[in-house]
Amino acid sequence: MTKACYPGSFDPITYGHLDVIERARRVFDEVVVAVSGSPSNLSKNALFTIDERLEMITEVTQHLDGIKVMNFEGLLVEFCRQIDANAVVKGLRTVSDFDYEMQMAQMNARMGIETVFVVAGPKYSYLSSSLMKEVTKLGGEVTGLVPPTVERSLKEKLKR
Ligand SMILES: Nc1ncnc2c1ncn2[C@@H]1O[C@H](COP(=O)(O)OP(=O)(O)OP(=O)(O)O)[C@@H](O)[C@H]1O
Ligand SMILES: [Mg+2]
Repeated sequence: MTKACYPGSFDPITYGHLDVIERARRVFDEVVVAVSGSPSNLSKNALFTIDERLEMITEVTQHLDGIKVMNFEGLLVEFCRQIDANAVVKGLRTVSDFDYEMQMAQMNARMGIETVFVVAGPKYSYLSSSLMKEVTKLGGEVTGLVPPTVERSLKEKLKR
């Protein structure tokens, strides 16, 4: 059985992330969506708690099988060993993603885990969690860019 670990902050999950999850699942038997961060102390620029993020991801991946949603802290390679993942999955949107991910992938390969890249779907290549938060905060609509439940949560958190 092949298992991939898809790590990120998912603060919150977007249709861009979901696209990566669905496509990775076609390649791997199981995809573990790994939400990074400490559940006890909310990092200063996070909008959602780890539990809220885990819950949203679980809800919007309900229609898929072979998906697991977990929290992790610390070294990704160590977490991959613990869950017995064969590879890390990352999404690539832009050259800036590439620059950063290339470095991480090389370091992680050196530490024993390979990275498989999924290129962003053209419909979603401009999406990021930060952009969704910024637009919602300023009163714009993110309909069609995040699942409806995430859109509601964003509005709730960010309404003044
Ligand atoms: N729209 C997208 N299409 C493809 N991959 C994506 C997309 N958004 C994020 N990813 C990938 O998902 C992984 C986790 O991303 P992350 O949690 O940092 O989300 P983000 O949208 O970049 O959020 P932030 O704005 O907080 O950085 C990374 O590998 C990232 O490249
Ligand atoms: Mg990011």
